[in-house]
Amino acid sequence: MITKEQVLEALKHLQDPTYGDSLVELQLIRDMMVKEGAISLTLIRSSQDESWENKIKADITAALSEYGIQEVHIRVRAMTEHEHGELQRKKNPNAEAVKTQQTAALLGPEATTEFIAIASGKGGVGKSTVTVNLAVALARRGKKVGIMDCDIYGFSVPDMMGAEERPQVVDNLIEPVERFGVKLISMGFFVQDNAPVIWRGPMLGKMLRNFFHEVNWGEVDYMLLDLPPGTGDIALDIHQMIPQSKEIIVTTPHATAAFVAARAGAMAVQTEHEVLGVVENMAYYLNKDGEKDYVFGRGGGGKLADELHTEMLAQIPLGAPDNHPAEADFAPSVYKADTEIGQMYLNLADRVIQKTTK
Ligand SMILES: Nc1ncnc2c1ncn2[C@@H]1O[C@H](COP(=O)(O)OP(=O)(O)OP(=O)(O)O)[C@@H](O)[C@H]1O
Ligand SMILES: [Mg+2]
Repeated sequence: MITKEQVLEALKHLQDPTYGDSLVELQLIRDMMVKEGAISLTLIRSSQDESWENKIKADITAALSEYGIQEVHIRVRAMTEHEHGELQRKKNPNAEAVKTQQTAALLGPEATTEFIAIASGKGGVGKSTVTVNLAVALARRGKKVGIMDCDIYGFSVPDMMGAEERPQVVDNLIEPVERFGVKLISMGFFVQDNAPVIWRGPMLGKMLRNFFHEVNWGEVDYMLLDLPPGTGDIALDIHQMIPQSKEIIVTTPHATAAFVAARAGAMAVQTEHEVLGVVENMAYYLNKDGEKDYVFGRGGGGKLADELHTEMLAQIPLGAPDNHPAEADFAPSVYKADTEIGQMYLNLADRVIQKTTK
């Protein structure tokens, strides 16, 4: 019968596409079981490239069939950001030292940064608005806060926060732009004149990785991740890159929106992200008589929270921030602290702090 050592020997020539070394030497083939002529193993995938995944599976199967193994079960899991950092450090201890430090600060075992992804099922329900205002509220409560605008195609955070500067590069690292005490990085800073981003999957993943490795975040207590709508590639990448991330699901009160948001919730549950709770946005409109008009229906947020066995963190009414372009600190989407909605975001921040402080 073939031994595990012989299997590793047989697979030694297969290379990892990102690091260029042998998959076996990089220890990317794990959890091997050899049983009655069948082999099962886990392959850690460093790249986002699906065609590579199919090819390497075929190569592994072919290499083992030469030893008479007909049955090969290959589980594939994406490499976490922490594992990437470790490999980079091993491969190039000097040149990568600074970046590894960076990564360690954010993602290493000693890191204390709380990651919170803001997700939804549908577009346009207010994820970015909630991200921006929760971030500003956490900063108003004295926390060190960062926002990663992970909506690579549909970035909107710089504009919503009125961030007009571009990030500077210092010592080979990108300095995030700071607005209302929040550090911010977005694809929007790297695109000329609002040109569309037309990348495919692998490039998106690479850009997200740069947000971790190439940005000088310094110390961050809360890193909010503004996700694109739905359960597509980027959302999945984020889930896999940051297994420790928690989530807030945003929905409108309409039953259909909540139904679609449940899928984003289910994705969080599947990837073992803890759901901190639901924010129901555009929950009602306060009319001239001070009564609540439920213009987008009612009850969706509560139902969703029940379904996900979590709580409703906030119900934010309809209402544009009372800001004027002439103000020095103008930001189209940031509610002032002393307004009713601004206060609701401070309450939301308090609840988030409570739920994430052990
Ligand atoms: N409570 C609110 N009251 C009034 N307008 C709001 C409210 N919340 C969000 N909006 C507006 O609704 C629009 C969509 O909000 P936002 O961009 O935050 O949604 P999103 O879920 O991030 O969208 P996308 O899926 O496109 O990323 C924006 O124009 C925003 O200003
Ligand atoms: Mg958005």
